[in-house]
Amino acid sequence: MLTNEPRELPAAARVAVEQFPTVFGADEGQVEGLSALGVAWAPGRVNLIGEHTDYNEGFVLPLAVDRVTAFAGRARGDGRVRLWSQQFQELAEIELEGLPGTFAAQASRLPTWARYVLAVLSELKAAGLDLRGFNAVLHGDVPLGGGMSSSAALEVATAWAAALFSGGRFAIGEAMAASTALSPLEVARLCQRAEHLASGVRCGILDQAASCLGRPGQALLLDCRSLDVRYLPFESERVALVVADTHVRRELAASAYNERRQQCEEAARLLADMMRAEEEGEPGGKAARPAIDSLRDVTPELFARYAARLPEVLRKRAGYVVAENERVLEVARLLERGAVEAIGPYLWQTHAGLRDQYEVSCAELDALVEIARRVKGVLGARMMGGGFGGCTINLVRSEAVEELRSAIMEEYPRQTGRPASVEVCRAAGGPGALYWPV
Ligand code: GLA
Repeated sequence: MLTNEPRELPAAARVAVEQFPTVFGADEGQVEGLSALGVAWAPGRVNLIGEHTDYNEGFVLPLAVDRVTAFAGRARGDGRVRLWSQQFQELAEIELEGLPGTFAAQASRLPTWARYVLAVLSELKAAGLDLRGFNAVLHGDVPLGGGMSSSAALEVATAWAAALFSGGRFAIGEAMAASTALSPLEVARLCQRAEHLASGVRCGILDQAASCLGRPGQALLLDCRSLDVRYLPFESERVALVVADTHVRRELAASAYNERRQQCEEAARLLADMMRAEEEGEPGGKAARPAIDSLRDVTPELFARYAARLPEVLRKRAGYVVAENERVLEVARLLERGAVEAIGPYLWQTHAGLRDQYEVSCAELDALVEIARRVKGVLGARMMGGGFGGCTINLVRSEAVEELRSAIMEEYPRQTGRPASVEVCRAAGGPGALYWPV
């Protein structure tokens, strides 16, 4: 991953590079041992299908997008990290010395965006890695809080930046020496823990894995139990991926998310108990049924058999997850055959499930999906990510993109009183890090 080859930088990385001398020029004169200018970045993601399945050890089918969060900076000779956020126009300072022990104390005096950086650095230190301080400008074009996982992009970019600025003390990559190298999947796991620390959301691995593992023109089918990955083609002249932002950000989303996760865990426990009780009552004992550790293990047949005995709310939550896992596998089969256009109906179904059974949609997300439904050439649309705001994802025939854009720009503000924004995304590559000749 580390390379000295000059190559095309993502647009946001280029902005960070350009800003670096302006922001840190004066500072640099006073610091000993500064190294070459380094750039590191990581992408946001969209999720084609497989929502709220990751923490149930199920399947997800995301792709990394052509929007990134980037660091441009230089290693310092000491253990201090000085960051300038171009988006927030704000400076933050982190002391590596004392992490992870000083995490809480440092987090309490940092702006929110810098807590994600702190959390990753803290997890890297907890993993025993030797970090060095650095000065860096941060910039990104992943819409903030808009459902494309700007926080995962920031976390993963932090890990790549920390490796770059460590001056070879540790590296990220599959083929590196074991003790001081992390695989991209290990980075994803570490960044997932960092997200828990920084935001209090007990998220699954979807966002961080998609950011770490993205490949141009491909979606990835991830088994969130085994972490096996299968790449599937996702590039077609005929269809486009359009992301529409509700511009709704709800504080309550974190506690509702954790509550959903806990309800799923409870449903899995109850279903496991029911099965066990039944088996014990059966003459001859143990039927050859699989154990249930999570909703991943509940097949549609098993669910149909036991669902009526679950409390209503848990029945709805679990019913959604069981059906969603099936949909992901079906969509993966279609992509494998190159039948991109055929996946649309599954997106509508997922939206209905998230709205009616999982109950994580909101009026603004539903409005965007209904506007899309009325545009001919939209093959499927649904809310994306945790819910209660954020974005919808729309699979659209290429010739209908402009019609969808104008329908949303006109109707959404009228219906909700909020601004609208629409972006077309492509499946793009994962993180990158390099030294930049200046
Ligand atoms: C958020 C979380 C992910 C995942 C989605 C819902 O994006 O960070 O782990 O659970 O919600 O699919």
